[in-house]
This record gives sequence, C-alpha cells and structure tokens, in this order.
Amino acid sequence: MDRALIWLSLVGFFLASVTSEPKTKQQNVDIYSFHINSTVTSRYAITVITSRVANSLDESQEVHFQVKIPKNAFISKFRMTIEGKTYDGIVKQKEEAQQQYSQAVSRGQSAGLVSSVGRTLEEFKTSVTVAALSKVTFELTYEELLKRRLGKYELLINAQPTQPVADFKIDVHIHENRGISFLEVKGGLSTNELASAVTTTRSGPESWVKFYPTPEQQKKCEGCGENGLNGDLIIIYDVERSKSEGEVRTSQGYFVHYFAPTDVQRIPKNVVFVIDRSGSMHGRKIEQTRLAMLRILGDLSEDDYFGIITFDSKVDTWNRELLKATQSNVEDAKKFVREITDRGSTDINAAVLEGVEMINRHPREGSASILILLTDGDPTAGETNPTRIQNNIREAIGKKFPLYCLGFGFDVDFDFLEKMALENEGVARRIYEDSDADIQLQGFYEEVATPLLTNVQMKYTGAENVTQTDFSHYYNGSEIVVAGQLTDNNLETFSTEVIAISKKENVKYIDTIATQGRSTGVLSGFENFIERLWAYLTVKQLLGKEQLLKGEKKKAAKKEVLDLSLKYNFVTPLTSMVVTKPQGEETQVAHKPKERGTTQRRGHIQLAGTASISGGITARGGFPSRGRIVNTYQAAPPPPPPPPPPVGGADFAQGFPSRGFPSRDYDYHDYSVFSSSDHHVGQVNGPIFLPTFLPTHPPPTNTAPEASPVRFLIQAQDQSEPLCYDIPASQRLRLLQDPSSDFSMNGELIESGGTGFSQITIHYKTDHMTLSTSGIIFSDGQNAVKFLWNQEPTTHETDSVSLILRNKEMDVSMGNTRVVILLREQDGNSFLWPAVRQRPSTTTLPGLFGKPPVAYTAVTLSHPPKLKIQDQEVQVSKSTATDYSIHSAPRVGCWLVPFQVAMQGELSDFTVSNL
Ligand SMILES: *[C@@H]1O[C@H](CO)[C@@H](O)[C@H](O)[C@H]1NC(C)=O
Ligand SMILES: *[C@@H]1O[C@H](CO)[C@@H](O)[C@H](O)[C@H]1NC(C)=O
Ligand SMILES: *[C@@H]1O[C@H](CO)[C@@H](O)[C@H](O)[C@H]1NC(C)=O
Repeated sequence: MDRALIWLSLVGFFLASVTSEPKTKQQNVDIYSFHINSTVTSRYAITVITSRVANSLDESQEVHFQVKIPKNAFISKFRMTIEGKTYDGIVKQKEEAQQQYSQAVSRGQSAGLVSSVGRTLEEFKTSVTVAALSKVTFELTYEELLKRRLGKYELLINAQPTQPVADFKIDVHIHENRGISFLEVKGGLSTNELASAVTTTRSGPESWVKFYPTPEQQKKCEGCGENGLNGDLIIIYDVERSKSEGEVRTSQGYFVHYFAPTDVQRIPKNVVFVIDRSGSMHGRKIEQTRLAMLRILGDLSEDDYFGIITFDSKVDTWNRELLKATQSNVEDAKKFVREITDRGSTDINAAVLEGVEMINRHPREGSASILILLTDGDPTAGETNPTRIQNNIREAIGKKFPLYCLGFGFDVDFDFLEKMALENEGVARRIYEDSDADIQLQGFYEEVATPLLTNVQMKYTGAENVTQTDFSHYYNGSEIVVAGQLTDNNLETFSTEVIAISKKENVKYIDTIATQGRSTGVLSGFENFIERLWAYLTVKQLLGKEQLLKGEKKKAAKKEVLDLSLKYNFVTPLTSMVVTKPQGEETQVAHKPKERGTTQRRGHIQLAGTASISGGITARGGFPSRGRIVNTYQAAPPPPPPPPPPVGGADFAQGFPSRGFPSRDYDYHDYSVFSSSDHHVGQVNGPIFLPTFLPTHPPPTNTAPEASPVRFLIQAQDQSEPLCYDIPASQRLRLLQDPSSDFSMNGELIESGGTGFSQITIHYKTDHMTLSTSGIIFSDGQNAVKFLWNQEPTTHETDSVSLILRNKEMDVSMGNTRVVILLREQDGNSFLWPAVRQRPSTTTLPGLFGKPPVAYTAVTLSHPPKLKIQDQEVQVSKSTATDYSIHSAPRVGCWLVPFQVAMQGELSDFTVSNL
C-alpha cells in the first residue's frame, strides 16, 4: 500500500508538471517577413505562406516553422531555402515515405508532422538548423475548393507568426468571372484596432483583400499580444448568378461546371428526426438537442410534413404518422421535445428503420423526403452489428431519399455513421460537444431546410472522366460542382445538360460554351487551375467512395487516388511529403491526418486528430531551445534510466481503425515527449518515468475475505437479458488478447472499496500502455508520453496507434482493436473500466472480454429459473449489474450465473501473474 501511495504521489507530481507549451516566441530568431498570399480563381483557392527568418545568434540553432491550414485543403508544396540552396518536400506514397520515417526513427531522430487542431484546422510544423547569423525562407502551399454553404463561400486564413513581424502581409486575390455579389472580412484579425489594417477593393471580376498591420497593431488584436498576431481572417463572399444553367469554365482541356440555380420554388419536405436519448446524451447534450429541435420546429414551413422519433433501447414516436407542420402540430411536437430525457442504451437500427417506414407510409408527389439521425454513441441495443445495421437501412431506404447522420461528440463510431450516410446519398457531420452545439445542429438543418430540386442529373457531351454527376437533392444556398476533361480539347462539341425534378415539373437546363460568352481570361500563372480543381475533386470524391467499395474495386479506387495525388503533389491520406533538409539533419515526413467526416457532396471534410511524436528529440543531442517539459521538472531524485525497450519490427505502414478527434476547439499542445535513449538525461534533473517503473505488487496471495467481488456483464444475443457473474477482488486478469496482432490487455481488480480495476495495461507490438486511476503512460518502445485524466482533451497518434483522451476516458485504437478505458467514480472511490468497442475478430478470443455475445435459451423462468447455456442447464437467479462500459453506467437486469458457466472455463484460465 505504501508503495502504491508513493507511486501515486510521484506520478501525480510528475504528470502534473507536464504542461502544454504555449506557442511562444523563439529566442534570438527574427521573423523579418511573413506573407500569406491567397489566390482564388472560381472558388479554387491556392494559398502560399512565406516566412523569412534570421538567426540572430552567433551560433547555429534550430529554427521552427509552424502554421495552420484548413483541414479541407491539400498541401501541395513545401520548400526551404537556406544559404541559396532550396530543399523541396517530395510527395511519395505513404508507405514509401513511411519507410524513410521508420529509418529516421530507428536512428533516434524525430519525424515531421501535420496534426489536427480544433474543428477546422491542421497544423504543419517543421524545423531546420540555421547557421550563425544566417537566414532561412520557408514556403508552404496548399489548395482547396471553397464550398458554398448557406449562400456563401468562406476562405479561412490563420496567422500566428509567434512574434510581431516588421513586414507582415496577407494578400487575397479573388477572381470570379461573374463578379461577386458581396464580400465581407471577418475573424479575430479584423476586429478593433486591426480593422483599419484591412482594405478591400472590388473591380469587375476581381477583388482584393489586403491585410497589412503594423508591428504595433499586431500586438493589439483579440488574443494577440507580445507574441504578435494570433487568429483568423475569414473572407466571405458569394458570386453573381445571372443564369440558372450555371457557370462553365474551361481551360487547357478541362472544364468545371458550377450549378446553383436560385429561380426555383422550394419543394415541401417530409422530414423525420431520429433522436438518440440514450444515457450518454445526459446533461448538456440533451439540453442542446432540445433547444435546437425547438428552433428547428419553429422554422418548418406549413406545407412541410414532419415526424420525430426518440430512441434508446426502446423506440418512441411523437406521432406514428408524419403530420403537417401546422401551428398546432408544431406546438404539440414542441411539448414532446421538451420532455425528451436521457436514459438507457442505443438501438440505432430499430429507430432508423422506424423513420424509414414513417416516410415510406407517406408518399407525396412533389415533395422531398429527408431522414436525419442524431446520435452520440455506438449501437448498444437491439441489432448492434454495424454491418448488419448498414445493410438493413440501405435496403429499407433503397435510394429513395437521403439519410443524414449527425454524430454528437466523440463517442460515436463516426466511420459507421459516415458509411451509412454515404450509402444513402447523404452526408455525416460531426457535432462538436461545445457550448454552440445547438447552433451547429440548427446550422446543419438550415443547409437542408430548403430543397429546390430532387434527382439532379448532370450530363455532359464532349467530356470524359467527369466527377460525380448524380445528386439526390439540391438545396438552396449550396452549389453542385462538376469537373471533367474535354474530349479532344474541343469546345465546339461540349455542352451541359441538367435534368431534375422541381416542385411542379421535370426541369431541364441546357447550355453550350457558345452561349456562355467570352470568358474573362484566366489569371496568369493559374492557367491549370481547372485541371487541379478536377484532380482535387476527384480525389476527395474517390476517398469517400472507396470506403464503400470492396476487393478489386477498392484497390482500383485507391490506386487512382494515389496516382492523382502523386501527379498533382497533393498530401492526401494516401501520400506523405518527405521534407528534405541540409545534409546531416533528420528527415521529416508530413502526413495528412486521418480523414473524418468526409462529405464529398456538400460538406466539410473533417479530419481526425493526429499528432505524432514530435520535437524534443534530436540526433544531435540536447533539447531544442524551446525547452518543453524538461524545464518544468523540479529537482527530484532521478531513478536510473531504464534500458530502452527494443524498437524495430513495428509495422508503421499499417493502418489503424480511425477515430474521431477530441471535442473541444482547444488549442493544440505539444505532447511531452522524450526518449529514454537520449543522451541528456543528466540535464533533465527529474525523474524519467517509464512504464517499467510502475509498481508491481507481489502476486495476490488470496482474496481478502472482506473485499466484495466485482460483477461483470456478458451481453446476450437477440436482445435477451445479459448474463452476469462475479469475480473476487484483487485478481490480476487477462482481459483481451489477440494473438494474430500481438495485442493484449490485462487488468488488476481493486483490492477493496471499488468495483473495477486499479490498473490496466495494454501491449501492442512494441507499444506499452499503463493506465491507473491517477494517469496514463504510453510508450512506443522508444518514447514515452504521459497524460492526466483531468487534463485538456488531447490526441496522440502514431501509425498503428491512436489515443484520444477526453473527459475521464482514454480511447485506444491499436491495430484492429478499439478499447475505451473509462475512469469511474463511485462512493468516493475511483476505478477503471474497459469497454471493448471494436474487436479484431468475431470469434472467442482469450480473455474476460474476449467473448462475443452468448446465446442461451430459457428452460424455465418459474422458480427457480433455469437457462440452457452452451448445452448446459443451469439454475440462475435474477439480479442486477451496473454497466460501466456505458457512459451513464445504467443499472441493468441480468441472470446471475457462476463464473465457470459464464466463461466456460476456470478462473485460473483467466488470471495472469504479471500485468
Ligand atoms: C501573390 O501571388 C501572385 C501570383 O503568384 C503574385 O502575382 C503576387 O505578386 C503575389 N503577391 C505577393 C504580395 O507576394
Ligand atoms: C434561397 O435563399 C436565398 C437567400 O440565400 C433567398 O433569398 C431565397 O428566397 C431562397 N429561395 C427559396 C426558394 O427559399
Ligand atoms: C480520361 O482518363 C483516362 C485515364 O487516365 C485517360 O487515358 C484519358 O485520356 C482521359 N480522357 C481525356 C479526354 O483526357
């Protein structure tokens, strides 16, 4: 016990002292020029960030370059210029780049990275050693197609140079052939003092926004200070739309067609909201949902029909049939919404099927049907197999209307929602758990609130290799964009045709280049923008489609993405950029963080967070000048550094089940990373804790008589009541093992006073992770990272491992296994509980949590009840258990059975001597 206490306090101290480093000015480094130059040609934005930096020290030092770019964008170029020499980043197939990365790692060097920051941005950072009194120029280019939402395009530019810069400029040049209808500049950088630094000029098809703040002004914006600017500049505009058939542009053998007619009447809609009210929606989420629903109901038009379904393990409807949105019906529905409360588990399958039926029972000429699912968790009741749910729903909907899936927070299996939405011509969107969640919900609804056309088919003569051409709905405020290649580069034969159904009739828009009029020329230097736009759109759409494909087709789609990415130098999920540097310096590799929430048709691309191990470790020894955690250590008796665990053999190239990104729009922090093999342990003046230092108690002699046992649940097939069994306290247990992937998870039950685990360890290849009630340590065999349960949400990602820490839970994905470890508190005691969210196999695996749901039949339910389990008749008793794997920890009914019956084995088959 004493040892445990010492350990707790030491680790507590240690973890508490690991703080995120605010992005501060680098000492003796002068950023003398920082330019952001963004050129938007017909919605396609190419942005170049150029930072010129001088090392003002008379010795060489490492100079950092760190910028944020929109998640939706692809990096297409990175260049460093040092002493007249240029070093260009090279885009390679991810696996190939990875090899270089692995080599760099095995040499003890660090890897470069791109990581996700908040909802909309990704951070790119790298560094290079610059000689005494020398200069370096960093140049990063990224490209994106601006998406029209709610009647506007938004170009987001982030600037955080980390110090006031003498020559600071943001230049935005917008070239829209049709002219623009309005232009606004927003964002933190255009407020107060800085508003005067913004100038906008408009002239025909051209517009310019210049933002040239003086060094004095750079200290005065919101969130800015001695470290200069820190914020966003958002340029919002829309284009003139004089012709309903849309705008066609061609250049160098490629065309792009923008279609967003406005002179169409709205189509009445049939909308069904399917709302999760499971226990995990408890608190603010359910309140925000109620609030958003009340506003949405208020916005329905009288000729809309609507339905509301709420579900946990049970499905309830406001009204079994769709009803017209009359004032009295809306008032009645509002009453229903006000009374939605959270409870129970999540039966997505039954709820969505009910929604589909509701719409199918109510066919209406000239209307547009929409099904909207809002959920915050994985399916846990009824049908829980994601593939079967997807199949059921796809079959039920039969492409008759779109399904939109809104994933609330980060407990959702977003991949599952996304696939389901994409299969049903909808999109999935993440709703970030934050104070504005109700506004996000409402905002999404507004985007689909006004259907103008259904069954939109875009047809082209004289063109090939065209991007997506069929769209189930076209909504007011959005835009359909199609690009392709002109056959034989022949404009004469090229024509566009759009067929769709409007409120009253079938409509057709036909256009030829001849009637498009002379296009105002393309900006010089950007003649190939349509070709790049086509490549960008093709890649984005294929990345979405590829998820739904299997076998050879999937391979072919991936290959096409890869070929295009390599050809156009895009850093996409399948490619990486190898950042080359002057001789003798580490190679760095920039990956696109894993994609989340891809919505090819109308949405944002949201990406999963990653942050690979960064900085801190350099081959040249010595920590970089920025210090990081090292400087925060207080003197403490350092234990001897343990020998580094073996590296090598790690399958870096392997993918991992991707997961979401933490919920808050928080600021990025560096992970505290250090290497056990570094040479500068002596400088650290503090303990280096690696998992090998965790206490190992002597094996439990025997169960303490006073300790109460811990109750476990086993889910049953076919919605039957789960089974439960007890295990005596303080055992060390094998929880889950997957021999095929070297994954194993063990845990030690709390000695007394708790109903769960005091410690859980996870091993995967060379990775080790130890979780206790005070904190978490993850080591990849070379570097260790620590987390506190109550710290800011954060992510940590390497190529086969993804860790997401959010409020009292650690979401661990390793290989094909995903486990969420929850920190639970009950009666003043804390303990851990593992929830296996994704298993590597459907068959039984070694370990307590290795069993798939069991099948049993009731022999008799009269007293004493008897069940037949695995051909064995056993007497059982009715009992209850707390399901700690679910957020709300509901108390559920269960059949209490002996351990041997539940697990078909002896307890000793499940114990381990060491964690
Ligand atoms: C921005 O880029 C355009 C196109 O490359 C170039 O003509 C222009 O001079 C650049 N502006 C600045 C301020 O660098
Ligand atoms: C479409 O939205 C615009 C504003 O963005 C509005 O002026 C117009 O009336 C809307 N059209 C319909 C049919 O609701
Ligand atoms: C369409 O793509 C194929 C395969 O990349 C290519 O061979 C063909 O030339 C393309 N068509 C046109 C008109 O460029």
